Amino acid sequence: MSLNVIQSISDMQSISNALRKEGKSIACVPTMGYLHEGHASLIREAVKHHDIVITTIFINPLQFGPKEDFERYPRDTERDIAIILAAGGKYVFIPSIYEMYPPEFQTTISIGNISKSFEGLYRPGHFEGVATVVAKLFAATKPDAAYFGQKDYQQTLVIKQMVKDLNMGIDIQVIPTLRESSGLAMSSRNVYLSPKEKKSALVLQSALQTGLSLIRDGNRRRISIEESMKDILAGCPEFEIQYCNAALGDTLEMPDEFSETDQIVLLIAGFLGKTRLIDNMTWSSK
Ligand code: PAF
Repeated sequence: MSLNVIQSISDMQSISNALRKEGKSIACVPTMGYLHEGHASLIREAVKHHDIVITTIFINPLQFGPKEDFERYPRDTERDIAIILAAGGKYVFIPSIYEMYPPEFQTTISIGNISKSFEGLYRPGHFEGVATVVAKLFAATKPDAAYFGQKDYQQTLVIKQMVKDLNMGIDIQVIPTLRESSGLAMSSRNVYLSPKEKKSALVLQSALQTGLSLIRDGNRRRISIEESMKDILAGCPEFEIQYCNAALGDTLEMPDEFSETDQIVLLIAGFLGKTRLIDNMTWSSK
C-alpha cells in the first residue's frame, strides 16, 4: 500500500474523524522530517499498538530562535516517505507553514516551571513553539496516543504537562533514544557534524555513562555526580558546555542529595562547533 499524504488540516480532521467512527485507534508521531532510525523506531512501536499511525512532518518556525537553524534545517521528504513506509506507517500529514500559521494566527501555549529550566533557559520561547505546534498537530490528527523520543527529555515532560493541564486525553509514550553504533544519540542535526566532530561528540555519552555508574554505585550527591561528568567533558575542549546536570526525572528539580528511590535524569547540552547537541540518560531503582 502506498502512503496517504495529507496536506490540509481539514482533510486530516475528516480522515481522522472517519477512522475514529470506524473504531480505529490512532497514534500520532510528530516529527520535523529528515527522519532517521530513531523516528522509525517510534513509528514501529506505534504500529504495534494502534490501527492507524499518522506521522507528521512540519519544520515548526515557532520553536526556532532568531539565530537558530530554521533555514538550514535538513529536508528530504522523498526519503522520509520511504522510511515511514518501511516502518509500517500508512499516513503522513505534511502541512505548509501557511496552513499551520495563517497570517491571522494569534494563539500560543505557554507552560510553567517545567519549561523554564535547561532548554528553556538557553532557547527562550522554544517550548511555547513546541507546545503550540504539538497542540495543533493533535487537533488535526485527533490521536489516542502520541510517540516521542527520550532524546528530547524535557520536551516529553512539557508535552505530558500540556496534555494533562488541557485535558487532551492523549496517551504520551516516550521511546528510548536510539544510538548510532558509536553510541552517538541519533538526531537529524548529526548531519551537520564533520567526521572529527562526530568522534568528539562521543564525549557526551561517556560523561553520561560516568554519571550513571556513580549513581549505580550509590552516590546520590548531585554536585559530585555533576562534577564527575564535567571532568569527562573537560577532556574535549572543543565541546562548549551549556549545562551538565543531574535532576529529578519527573520535575527536573535539582536537590543537593537524591534519595534512593528518586528517578534521576542526567542532562547535557552544548555546542560542538556550530552544532548544538543534547543528550540524556535516566536512572531508576525500579
Ligand atoms: O521533536 C521534534 O521533532 C519537534 O520538537 C516536534 C515534537 C515535532 C514539534 O515540532
